[in-house]
Amino acid sequence: MASDEKETVEGLLEIKEIYEPPKEIVEKAYVKNYDEVYQAAIKDPEKFWEEAANELEWFKKWNKVLEWDYPKAKWFLGAKVNIVHNALDRHMNTWRRNKVALYWEGQDGSSRTLSYADLYREVNRFANALKELGIKKGDRVTIYLPRIPEQMIAMLATAKIGAIHSVVYSGFSAGALKDRIIDAEAKVVVTADGGYYRNKIVPLKDTVDEIRDECPTLEHVVVVRRTGKDIREKEGDIDWNELVKDKPVECKTEEMDSEDPLFILYTSGTTGKPKGVLHVHGGYMVGVYRTMKWIFDIKDDDVYWCTADAGWITGHSYIVYGPLINGATSLMWEGAPDYPHPGIWWSLIEKYKVSIFYTTPTAIRALMRYGEEWPRKYDLSSLRILGSVGEPINPEAWLWFRKVTGDRCPIMDTWWQTETGMIMISPLPCVPLKPGSATKPFPGIVAEIVDKDGNKITEPNKGGYLVIRTPWPAMMRTIYKDPDRYNSYWETIPNAYHTGDMAKMDEDGYFWILGRADDVLKVSGYRLGTAEIESALVSHEAVAEAAVIGKPDPVKGEAIKAFVVLKEGYEPSDDLVKELKMHVREVMGPIAMPSEIEFRESLPKTRSGKIMRRLLKAQELGLPVGDTSTLED
Ligand code: PRX
Repeated sequence: MASDEKETVEGLLEIKEIYEPPKEIVEKAYVKNYDEVYQAAIKDPEKFWEEAANELEWFKKWNKVLEWDYPKAKWFLGAKVNIVHNALDRHMNTWRRNKVALYWEGQDGSSRTLSYADLYREVNRFANALKELGIKKGDRVTIYLPRIPEQMIAMLATAKIGAIHSVVYSGFSAGALKDRIIDAEAKVVVTADGGYYRNKIVPLKDTVDEIRDECPTLEHVVVVRRTGKDIREKEGDIDWNELVKDKPVECKTEEMDSEDPLFILYTSGTTGKPKGVLHVHGGYMVGVYRTMKWIFDIKDDDVYWCTADAGWITGHSYIVYGPLINGATSLMWEGAPDYPHPGIWWSLIEKYKVSIFYTTPTAIRALMRYGEEWPRKYDLSSLRILGSVGEPINPEAWLWFRKVTGDRCPIMDTWWQTETGMIMISPLPCVPLKPGSATKPFPGIVAEIVDKDGNKITEPNKGGYLVIRTPWPAMMRTIYKDPDRYNSYWETIPNAYHTGDMAKMDEDGYFWILGRADDVLKVSGYRLGTAEIESALVSHEAVAEAAVIGKPDPVKGEAIKAFVVLKEGYEPSDDLVKELKMHVREVMGPIAMPSEIEFRESLPKTRSGKIMRRLLKAQELGLPVGDTSTLED
């Protein structure tokens, strides 16, 4: 170990070295001096965001930039806009009409290339089809598709006609899908006969069939033919190709109010059912546009690849809307990072000459295990900027990612959330980097570390709650049908938006994200609530009670461990462990499957009956159990 490295308590390497940004990148970057731009934005944030908004097209401009009535914000008041106008329509009048918007690679070796004009036509045809199905402004459309162009097309078509999309990740199963359709009161579900997952086909349409009768608002199921898998035709089924084939390639873009809803995206919280985070056309558009452009320094000759799925916020903001609004060329890969072979991602970077590559720490750690020989086989010299998102990136993974991609590309470690809509803390390419730190807040963002009473922690390297002090344009506007839950984000800590994360700041003002402060898990970067997994377990006939914790895992970041109390008449066994794991998989999806299940006679509870997960976790990890004065027994 070099002298500038030391082992921290968590066993992570702490790298003292600072990585200065490459000169050739800074010279060409949109932002060359972070401090200057940050200071100007803080002095007059409304002016800062207004300047960004002025780079885009509006049907009618705002008469006021911000109305801040704590904790409710409205941005670009009185303006008329549609995000799809900026993502697609406006490019039709420029040379970008014929620029590639999307390269798509299928797992079966097939591929598609869509120019901006191609995408525009496909979106319009599907938008017209949705109208024919009776979908109007404000209606909800659930999109449950694998990583294929139709995922993006369906989202854009929905937004174009002023309807609201709710994308459900295709790795979720029947129970999770049902909850989301019912809460959104969706009229249409867009799905596929199946989606490829390694050597299997995930039967998405069958999953929809399992629950459609329990979703009273659901009228139609549109099915994309992707795998050729047999499907049982049901009443209300419509084949995507049949539906769009005679539809016009022009469709009027609905003029929306700046504050009109664009999408609902369900995410996990500490308790209860997932929450429908709601984002709007105007502010969200400005936020993702500005962050995408400055953080990834996206230029017309770049090929950009974000490996996320559009089923998550990263996909909404930085696969669909951010890149298209910036007129970028993107790559989409249908499959996994290491299938059919561990070099597949690297081979795609070589094939498409990807220059900006945005991925997750989990994927990097998984690829690290296969060794350096895989990236070494391919020409990765096209890369210039890298990105990481979803969970803290450990310095080992950071250094490996940098090294195997040529030891020259700056890594943008971007911290943000479904609720924030856009990246909030991240380097810009001109900012010196420290491996494992998300560095500094984006211009216009006021981030702080505070104690539970909201007092700012000024002592360097002391952990506390990460909060945001002032509104930003892409912030969620509410939790769908649950405004109290929205307010609670702004009421937990006085005068601040509570992110739910712990963080510390070092002597140079760099932020270090330490992980969640609550019962939200980050498993392979996927956000899951312990309560949701517990209720999936309890829905099994043998289970009386369950408690779920996250355990540190070298690849996944966190792994799920469940403690289960069985009902009378059931005995612990290996078979039951397997059965319970499969049950969670069927109810919630493979991403929520516990890796460990332990049977217990009882669970530790507070006197008011709340399960003390904190205690279970401390015991499991051999850490001090802390305050147990509220323990029942
Ligand atoms: O804990 C933080 C972690 O992911 C949470 C948000 O999850 P989600 O809403 O699914 O959005 C993920 C993609 C934006 C945060 O509260 N997180 C996200 N990015 C980072 C991160 N933790 C550390 N470093 C990051 N770069």
